[in-house]
Parts: sequence; structure tokens; C-alpha cells
Amino acid sequence: MAAKLGALIITLLAFLGSVECQQGPGILCLGGWVRPVPILGGLICPGGLRPSPKFFKRPSPAPSGAGLRVGYYNSCPNAEDIVRKVVRDAVDKEPGMGAGLIRLFFHDCFVRGCDASVLLVNSSGSSDPSEMFGPPNRESLRGFGVIDEAKAALEAACPNVVSCADILAFAARDASSFLSNGRVNFAMPAGRLDGRVSLASETTDRLPGPFSDLETLKNRFAAKGLNTNDMVTLSGAHTLGHARCMFVSTSRPGMNATLAGELRQRCGGGGGGNSSVNLDYKTPDVLDSQYFQNVKDNAVLLDSDAALSATETAALVDTYAAGLGSRWEMEFAAAMVKMGNIEVKTSPGADAEIRKKCSIYN
Ligand code: HEM
Ligand SMILES: *[C@@H]1O[C@H](CO)[C@@H](O)[C@H](O)[C@H]1NC(C)=O
Ligand SMILES: *[C@@H]1O[C@H](CO)[C@@H](O)[C@H](O)[C@H]1NC(C)=O
Ligand SMILES: *[C@@H]1O[C@H](CO)[C@@H](O)[C@H](O)[C@H]1NC(C)=O
Repeated sequence: MAAKLGALIITLLAFLGSVECQQGPGILCLGGWVRPVPILGGLICPGGLRPSPKFFKRPSPAPSGAGLRVGYYNSCPNAEDIVRKVVRDAVDKEPGMGAGLIRLFFHDCFVRGCDASVLLVNSSGSSDPSEMFGPPNRESLRGFGVIDEAKAALEAACPNVVSCADILAFAARDASSFLSNGRVNFAMPAGRLDGRVSLASETTDRLPGPFSDLETLKNRFAAKGLNTNDMVTLSGAHTLGHARCMFVSTSRPGMNATLAGELRQRCGGGGGGNSSVNLDYKTPDVLDSQYFQNVKDNAVLLDSDAALSATETAALVDTYAAGLGSRWEMEFAAAMVKMGNIEVKTSPGADAEIRKKCSIYN
């Protein structure tokens, strides 16, 4: 009986090994957005989900941002001030809104370029759900109301002039400046047009997920023309905001046990996987280099954060953690501009316009 069961298990494992576990130990479930579950010494995706192919795409050249320039809206000279004021008020009321705006910009740029596709409630030419309903985004992204408020103020001042994609870029820049107390300050080139297509199905295989290994993180950034250093630099945004418990890992070997215990306690409460915890246990509302110290201290929440302590990225993590000469702040500013160059649309046409309302294409 026992021998029969053993044989059955071995057959089952062989089957799983050949069919489900082609990727080896680091499998990706839903592109890295669902936690793999351990089974008999291996890993599988839960709920009958098949492991996602790792999509090792060829690296793209660095995005040029051709057509964008600083001071683009000289025909609406107060445009950037108008956005800044709306963001200032929102962040004063709730610092988490600033975190939300910075993440919104990242999630916009990685899916169909920085074209405000993440703001659309539906898509031209498709009845499929739009990006904001994709697993990385739904019940998670925040800051939409801030963008709508800025857009309304801009339409009153200069109708049909400022794109939603640029408003989002300015807002992410301003949030960075306010939350860093002016240490992350930079000019944001503009001239982006708004897209008309937005598909939830394009989110999980472009946006890196919390259960991604270093190879996958590097590859998702490389697919957008961003290098490994850019990936490390931009990950520093996880010095802000929160993450839902479903994404948080507390049993990594070597993890700060006090923090792990606190997280387990907070996540054990009523909200289940939906309750959230601060990504930076120390200074959650300040955009600073604390994140990199947390990576070094094994005091980060996501497996994707912990992946940055690998040999390949550890040197840059150390440099940023040391905090000398505001090196991280300067490089973060440059990396935000670079991210803002991804696949931008700059000639008006069938797929590019200046929206009247950020949530719907014209
Ligand atoms: C390197 C790969 C990255 C992964 C795997 C990742 C993953 C995540 C996850 C899982 C959350 C929590 C979401 C939730 O609970 O619903 C989160 C939050 C956040 N991420 Fe990332 N992220 C990455 C890179 C970035 C980048 C490049 C930025 C911006 C430059 C960013 C900014 C943020 C911010 C600010 C939050 C907090 C949002 C809030 O409090 O509303 N992340 N990220
Ligand atoms: C998209 O949503 C807007 C706003 O809800 C609505 O007016 C429009 O008819 C929708 N378009 C399609 C194709 O469903
Ligand atoms: C571990 O985390 C706790 C917060 O939960 C913190 O007070 C402590 O300093 C951390 N220890 C190390 C070595 O980083
Ligand atoms: C999380 O919230 C969503 C929407 O409010 C709900 O559908 C889901 O069941 C919740 N999950 C948990 C674990 O509470």
C-alpha cells in the first residue's frame, strides 16, 4: 500500500515536473502577481493556474523621448503650477496619495508607454476590461481623483492643451519633490499625447510582480529599455506607501524576525489579504534612501525587494544605502525622466490625442 502510494507520488511529481514546473524553482504565477505554493518539495501555481512563461524578451534600446521637452506648455504658462498646487494639497492631506501618484506613473509607462492608458475606464476597439482592472492595479492604484482634479483645473485655464499623460508625469514629479522635502527635484520633459487603447490583459506580463526573481525583474525593465541600475534605482520608490498582505512574505530565511512577527500580526487581523502594511517600516511617508538600508538589513516586505540583495545588485544597494552626496536622489530623478520617455506618442493621429477627460478617450 505504502509502496503503491510512493510510486503514485513519484509519478505525480514526474508529471508535475514535466508539465507544470518547466521553469524550475523560480516559477512565475500570473506573471509574478500570484504566490506559488509549495508542494512535495517543488512549487506550483495555485487554483489550477499554469505557470507563466518567463517571456525573456530582447532588451530594447533606451527610450529616447524624442519630441518631449522641458517647458513644453509655454502656451499655457501656468500648467505646471496648476498641477503642482493640486498635488501639494492632496499630499498634505494624505501622503499616501503621493505614493499612489508615483506608482500610477510607473504602471502607466510600462504598459503601452506613458500615454495615460492606465487612467482609462474602457478601451477603444475592445469591450475587454481596461488596465485599471488588471490584477496589479484593481483595488490597489490610488491617485486617480488627484489627476481628475488637476485636469479639470487645466481645462478651465487652457482647454484642450495639456494631455493626461503629461499631467501624470508632472504629478509624479511633484509628489517626489514634496515627499522628499525638496531633495528629489527635477524638470520633467513634456509633450506626450494620450492613448486610446487600454487592456487589462497586458498588465501582468509587463509589470513586474512581487513574486518575481531577479532575472525576471531585470528582463521586464530591459524590455522597456531600462537597465538593471535603473531597476534598482526606481525600486527605491518602495520607501513610500503600502502593500497588501497577500503580497508580503514573512518567512524568508534571514529576514528580520521582529519585523516579520509584526507583519504577521498586522496581516492576521480582520482584513485578510486585503489589509495593508507600510513598505518601509521606518520612514513610510518620506522619499529617501531608507529602502536600500532595509534591503541590506533583510527588512523588506516583497520577495522582489529582497531579490536586490543578490551579488549583482548589492554594490549599488550599498552605495545608495550609504546616502553620500544624495546619489540616490539624483539618480532617482534621472531614472524617473528616463521612465517617462518610454514609448511616448508625440504625433496626433488615430491612436493619440489630448483627452478632454482623463478617464475616457475622446
Ligand atoms: C521592481 C519591480 C516592482 C515590483 C515587483 C513592485 C511591486 C509592488 C507591489 C506588489 C506593491 C503593493 C501593491 C498592492 O498591495 O496592491 C507596490 C507598491 C508600490 N510601488 Fe512598486 N513594484 C516595483 C517597482 C516600482 C517602481 C519602479 C515604482 C515607482 C518608481 C514603484 C512604486 C510603488 C509605490 C509608491 C508603491 C506604494 C503604493 C501605494 O501606497 O499606493 N514600484 N509595488
Ligand atoms: C466607455 O466609458 C464611457 C464612460 O463610462 C462611456 O460613455 C462610453 O460609452 C464607453 N465606451 C464603450 C465603447 O463602452
Ligand atoms: C528589525 O525590525 C525592527 C522593526 O520591526 C527594528 O526595530 C529593528 O531595528 C530591526 N533590526 C535590524 C537589525 O535591522
Ligand atoms: C478583498 O477585497 C475584494 C473587493 O473588495 C473582495 O472581492 C475580496 O474577497 C477580498 N479578499 C479578502 C481576502 O478579504
